[in-house]
Amino acid sequence: DYYAVIMAGGIGSRFWPVSTSDFPKQFHDMLGTGQTLLQKTFGRLNKIIPSKNILVLTNERYLQLTLKQLPQIAEEQVILEPAMRNTAPCILLSALKIKKQNPNALMLVAPSDHWIEDETAFLEDVQICFDACQRKDYLMTLGIKPTFPNTGYGYIEAEKKESSVIKKVKQFREKPDYETAKQFLAAGNFMWNAGIFLWSVKSISDAFEENNPVMHALFSEGIPAYNTSEEKEFIAENYGKAENVSIDYAIMEKADNVYVKKASFDWNDLGTWGALHDKMDKDSQENAVVRAVPHLKEAHRNMVYTASKKLVVVDGIDDYIIVDKEDVLLIYPKEKEQDIKSLLADVKENF
Ligand code: GDD
Ligand code: MG
Repeated sequence: DYYAVIMAGGIGSRFWPVSTSDFPKQFHDMLGTGQTLLQKTFGRLNKIIPSKNILVLTNERYLQLTLKQLPQIAEEQVILEPAMRNTAPCILLSALKIKKQNPNALMLVAPSDHWIEDETAFLEDVQICFDACQRKDYLMTLGIKPTFPNTGYGYIEAEKKESSVIKKVKQFREKPDYETAKQFLAAGNFMWNAGIFLWSVKSISDAFEENNPVMHALFSEGIPAYNTSEEKEFIAENYGKAENVSIDYAIMEKADNVYVKKASFDWNDLGTWGALHDKMDKDSQENAVVRAVPHLKEAHRNMVYTASKKLVVVDGIDDYIIVDKEDVLLIYPKEKEQDIKSLLADVKENF
């Protein structure tokens, strides 16, 4: 049986002022399509995975947001994290939880904040990976052709000699420094890790047992039956004791049964306003507009976002992020988009 877990516990601070810790980006309709990123992720997965087998992992403070946005799921399908511990603990916990219910289950792990337009191609790739994981003890990930030395991604080097669709991974390197990323790009046989993982619950549980026995022991010993109140208590009590580490560092860099399928769909990690601008349809002057009614004169390559429908008049401004929300107006150069994260702390202190 197929299962999916959607990770929706991040904060998305570079999308401030829209994304906040009370209301992170995955719960917003960032693309102006009428659906939030979480709803889009769910809808995509639900085409191949029954809704009762889709779990959402998030912080306990986002329970109501999650249930409201996904009326298709029951409250038991939301795993509530009492603390932020990055992705390894929530992935292991959900794998063990599913395994308890169904030892032969296959599981997909998806972030909740990605832009994927070609759903058909995505689902075909998922099917190919699931088929491989059904037969073999593979930890699978989807690889994206890199276009610049981005230091915010994981890099995957595939074995050169392999000509098959699914390639063995020679090395997985999470967030290399800039020089290393440049070398990887020049080498030609590296891909970006899309952050979408597929495996059997048995394979990932075994990988934790081997590479992080402490975390494995913490969760595997005594995990109660699926979707019971005992299970809920177990999670509330033990989750915070887990090491704060991502799946990439904890498992993907260490395991020797990692395999990659090159993604056949166009992908973007919607991490910044600039990334959103890249992926959106644009006007003849390369401005991207979400919800606003634009009146843009001498204005080029701007990202204009309003929380509700509103006339926005811009003249003489290029390459800016212009975000209007009830309580905040942000006008910020696109080239400094990475600074929004630190800006936020500064603003909070002085506001
Ligand atoms: N439930 C839960 N709990 N989800 C979390 C937590 C947590 O404590 N921390 C992060 N997440 C969610 C985020 O909301 C996001 O959807 C996903 O897990 C990945 O976390 P990020 O923090 O966005 O990771 P990253 O972007 O730095 O790196 C990962 O993704 C890249 C591609 O987008 C890595 O897998 C990289 O290797 C990869 O290239
Ligand atoms: Mg990310």
